[in-house]
Amino acid sequence: MKSVKEFDLIVIGGGPGGYVAAIRASQLGLKVLCIEKRKSLGGTCLNIGCIPSKTLLHSSHLYQLSKNHLAEYGIHVKGEISLDLIKMMDNKEAVVKKLTGGIGSLFQKNKVLHLEGKAKIIASNTVIVGKEEFKAKTILVSTGSIPSTIKNVQVDENKIVSSTGALSFSKIPNELAVIGGGYIGLELGSVWKRLGSNVTVIEFSSNIVPTMDKDTANIFFSTLKKQGLKFLLNTGVQSANIDGDKVLLNCLDNINKKQKILSFDKVLVAVGRKPFYEDLGLENLGVEINDDNTIKVDKNFRTSIPSIFAIGDVIKGPMLAHKASAEGHVFAEKLAGNNPVLNYGCIPAVIYTEPEVAWVGPTEKELEEKGIQYKKGIFPFKANARGKTTGDIEGNIKILSHPKNDKLIAVHIIGAHAGELIGEAVAALEAGLSAEDIALICHAHPTLSESMKEAASLASTGKTLHI
Ligand code: NAI
Repeated sequence: MKSVKEFDLIVIGGGPGGYVAAIRASQLGLKVLCIEKRKSLGGTCLNIGCIPSKTLLHSSHLYQLSKNHLAEYGIHVKGEISLDLIKMMDNKEAVVKKLTGGIGSLFQKNKVLHLEGKAKIIASNTVIVGKEEFKAKTILVSTGSIPSTIKNVQVDENKIVSSTGALSFSKIPNELAVIGGGYIGLELGSVWKRLGSNVTVIEFSSNIVPTMDKDTANIFFSTLKKQGLKFLLNTGVQSANIDGDKVLLNCLDNINKKQKILSFDKVLVAVGRKPFYEDLGLENLGVEINDDNTIKVDKNFRTSIPSIFAIGDVIKGPMLAHKASAEGHVFAEKLAGNNPVLNYGCIPAVIYTEPEVAWVGPTEKELEEKGIQYKKGIFPFKANARGKTTGDIEGNIKILSHPKNDKLIAVHIIGAHAGELIGEAVAALEAGLSAEDIALICHAHPTLSESMKEAASLASTGKTLHI
C-alpha cells in the first residue's frame, strides 16, 4: 500500500504569509509541510517584488546622488560618473538570493519540511503534488496574487512588461510609459527616471495613489513632477500595438473624451494585482469566493470548508507583504490554541520613492465622509535639526487626533525615512496613546523622529517649540 505522509498543517505558498505561518506553527509544536512551486522561497515579495524593487530604488538613488548632489557637500569625483546596469542587476539578484536562501535555512532551523512543487487540494484534508499525496488536519492557502491586466494590452515581458519585466530591463529605455500611478508604477517609474529614462505615468483617476491623504498626495505629486516624471491623469489606456521597435498606446482622456496615440520604447502595466488560486482545486471543493474574487474567510481565516484556511493577498484587505505576514503569525497562534487579534486599523502603508510616503489610519477625507471630528498638527521637516544636517528638509508629518480625548487617529508622513518613522506611529496607535503622550515622549536629538513629537504637540495643544 502507498504510504501517505501526514502533517498537522500543510501550507501552500512560501511567500511572506505562508513562510511566517509555517515557521511559527512549527515553533508552536505542530508538524508542518510548506509546498512552494517556485525554485526559491519568499514569494512575489522576495523574488520579484519588494526586495528587488527596493534594491533598485537604493542603487538608483545612489547613482542620482553621486551624479547630481555630491558637489553640494564639497565632494568632487574625478571623471564622469557612469552606470553599469549589469552590475546593478547582479547586485539586485545577489540580495534576492541571500534573502530567499535565508528562508530555506530558517525552515531547517525550525523543522519545517519544504517541498518544491505545484500543490492541488483534492479533498478537505488531502493535497497532491504530482502523484504524491499528503494529508493534514489543516490546510492553509497563501498563494498570493498576480498582476492585473488591461483588455487589449498584451503583456509580453519584453516591450510591454509587468513589474517582473520592469525589474530586469537589460537596457535603459528611452521613453517608458507606466500605466497606473499606484505603488508599483511610482516606485519603478522613479527607478528608471533616475537611471535616465523619460517616464510618463498614465493614471485613470484624477490623483496618483487615490488612497493617499490629499495634502500628502499633493506634495508627493509636485515633488515627483519636479524630479521630471511626466503625468497624464484622468487618462485610460484603451489598447497597445507594437509598431517595429515602438509600442503605440491608444489613450482616452476621461474628461474631454479625446483620444491620442503615444509612442514609447517600453510600457509597464501596473494597474493593481488580483488574488491567485488557479488550479488549486478550490472550486471543486466548493470553497466560497467573494464578489471581488478573494477567498471568503471568517475572522479566524477559516474558509467555507472547516479544515481549509486562507491568508494574505488571496483574502480581503490591502495586498501588502507585512499584512500577509501578520495574518500568517496570528493564524499560527490561533491554530495552536492562542488567541491574538490582528488590528486591521494599524496596518501601515509605505511607498519607497524619494521622498518616501508612509501612513497609518484614515485620511482626512475618510474621516470627513464618516462625520468624525479631528484635530490636526503638521510639522515640516524643514524645521527639523537632523533634516538640516542631512539635507532631508522636504515634506512633513501630519498627526490627526480626537478633539475630546486627544487619542491618536492617524499619522501621514511624506519625507526621508518615512517608512522607518511610521513604526512609532503604528505602535502608538496600537497602544491607544494620545497625541499628548507622543509629545511628552523623549525622542533622541537630533533625529527626524523629533518631528513626530512636534506634530503631536501641534495636534494636542496647537503649539510646539520649533515653529
Ligand atoms: P495600485 O492599486 O497601487 O495602483 C494601480 C493604479 O492603476 C491605480 O491608481 C488605478 O487607478 C490605476 N489604473 C487602473 N487601471 C488603469 C488604466 N486602465 N489606465 C490607467 N490607470 C489605471 O496597484 P499597483 O501599483 O499595481 O500595486 C499592486 C499591489 O502591490 C498594491 O496593492 C500594492 O499594495 C502592492 N505593492 C506594495 C508596495 C509597497 O508596499 N511599497 C510596492 C509595490 C506593490
